[in-house]
Amino acid sequence: MVLSMKFKDNVVLVVGSATGMGNATVKQLLREGAHVIAFDVREDALEELAEEVREDPAQYCGSLETYPGDVNDTEKRRGVAQMIRGKYGRLDTLAYIAGTLDNMTPAHDLDDELWDYVMDVNVNSAFRMVRETLPLLTDHEGRAANIVVVGSVGGIYGSTAGAAYITSKHAVLGLAKNLAWTYRSRNLRVNVVNPGAVMTSILENSMIKWPDRDLVHPEGAEPYTVKGAVSLGEGVMGEPEDIAQAVCFLISGDAKFINGAELTVDGGWTSF
Ligand SMILES: NC(=O)c1ccc[n+]([C@@H]2O[C@H](COP(=O)([O-])OP(=O)(O)OC[C@H]3O[C@@H](n4cnc5c(N)ncnc54)[C@H](O)[C@@H]3O)[C@@H](O)[C@H]2O)c1
Repeated sequence: MVLSMKFKDNVVLVVGSATGMGNATVKQLLREGAHVIAFDVREDALEELAEEVREDPAQYCGSLETYPGDVNDTEKRRGVAQMIRGKYGRLDTLAYIAGTLDNMTPAHDLDDELWDYVMDVNVNSAFRMVRETLPLLTDHEGRAANIVVVGSVGGIYGSTAGAAYITSKHAVLGLAKNLAWTYRSRNLRVNVVNPGAVMTSILENSMIKWPDRDLVHPEGAEPYTVKGAVSLGEGVMGEPEDIAQAVCFLISGDAKFINGAELTVDGGWTSF
């Protein structure tokens, strides 16, 4: 296998990296020579990822450091930023991929606990992680640093999940655009990947978080279509690697003039 080493010596923090798209992104970055810090609340899955990487050093030629923690925990966010500052003195990319579902819950049935948790993981902690790492990301010499946020087609349409998830994904898009504009002259690019339907562990992770709740709200299941017209699974189900490729494109030099953009990666699901 010929490896491109596109990200050789880049320092990349991937938040939400143990399973799904984050896991695939970590592996892609390691194949291309990056120093990856993998932050996630699923310590068991992080350890499995580290084991997989250790077993195949020829393929995963970058370096991996795992950092278990809940992204809603201030000390953990601060801790990982301090660790990166101490060890590398800079951060080339923050990839904020962590996300959680609202079990398709419609507004009239959405309690504060679920609303707050979804908003915390999908938006509030994204902002706070950005704030923590901005001093490490701005004013780089040479190639720009990057922030990539994984949003959702639920950030541009209203019908793919419940009220909290849709609100959170619209909000994080606004955050990214504001950051792109504000820090454009400080050598930082900020972009968003909006996946469509992708086969990951997001339902399993939701079951771990909310073991006593129905996984899909009975009234929320029906709206899990775009504009109520196209159902899931009709040839538009992607793989985590499809999203990893999009993330890696946006942080690469090939995308050097792309800033403040949303890249929808959905196999054409929302193109009708
Ligand atoms: N799977 C889909 O169909 C789909 C579609 C559109 C958007 N998305 C978005 O893609 C992103 C990645 O999701 P995925 O589908 O790969 O799911 P996933 O559950 O496999 O991955 C999300 C990761 O975030 C981590 N995470 C969740 N809460 C956390 C917390 N509090 N602290 C630290 N880490 C936490 C999880 O442990 C997991 O490793 C999410 O933002 C999700 O909203 C997913």
